[in-house]
Amino acid sequence: MKDNSEHPLRVVDVEKIYKVGERDYPALRGVSLAANRGEILAILGPSGSGKTTLLDLMGTLDRPTKGKIFIDGIDTSNLNDTELSALRNKKIGFIFQSYNLVPYLSALENVELSMLAGDSLNNEGKSRAVSLLTELGLGEKMEKKPRELSGGEQQRIAIARALVNNPSIILADEPTGNLDTKTSEAVISILNRMSSRNSAAIVLVTHEEDLAKDSDRIIRLRDGRIEKEVRKHDKDK
Ligand SMILES: Nc1ncnc2c1ncn2[C@@H]1O[C@H](COP(=O)(O)OP(=O)(O)O)[C@@H](O)[C@H]1O
Ligand SMILES: [Mg+2]
Repeated sequence: MKDNSEHPLRVVDVEKIYKVGERDYPALRGVSLAANRGEILAILGPSGSGKTTLLDLMGTLDRPTKGKIFIDGIDTSNLNDTELSALRNKKIGFIFQSYNLVPYLSALENVELSMLAGDSLNNEGKSRAVSLLTELGLGEKMEKKPRELSGGEQQRIAIARALVNNPSIILADEPTGNLDTKTSEAVISILNRMSSRNSAAIVLVTHEEDLAKDSDRIIRLRDGRIEKEVRKHDKDK
């Protein structure tokens, strides 16, 4: 049930067909890729190309119609829903366009919440949450509620929340979709810094060309297929 690859994430011949009534909507038509530790892999593609579908499958939030997803070598198709959510909590951090913070909790509590899903919160966990928020420039704002913070600050909380469990994989779906250009660039540079320092693989989904330019690898999706893959050393030429 384990494969021996080093990849935190492997997608093998994945297809996804949504059924709506009698009709089939193929969203992914055979996608294979592997993400490496410490890299940012950008998935670029126009609206409707299958980016969110692919990210949901990578995050085990949904199951493929065909093909397999391996998380740290574990074949997720063999797991039931309970096992899958345990694996997800342990191994995957999510960052969404809409931040998805709990409105009545402070910045710090929002980050701590993500650790409660697994073990109970100990002092070590608490100090990790504090030091991540401090590193992300929110040291003075830990007691503030989301509504008291700007969009960029809220997204930084969401980044801290995604990182605090030391996940193998961080999945970000249009994480800068609600931010202005300058704040977007700041968020992407934080993700870059985090990817090189942590051993996590970051998968960044976006339809904005500019945001993908600093990633290590770009995969272009079109009509549910990989159209092209570009590595950084190709990009730099
Ligand atoms: N729940 C769903 N039911 C039916 N069709 C869907 C569903 N989710 C996505 N689709 C279709 O699958 C295709 C890919 O969608 P999506 O993965 O959201 O693309 P992207 O994130 O690149 O915009 C689109 O044609 C979309 O309409
Ligand atoms: Mg999408």
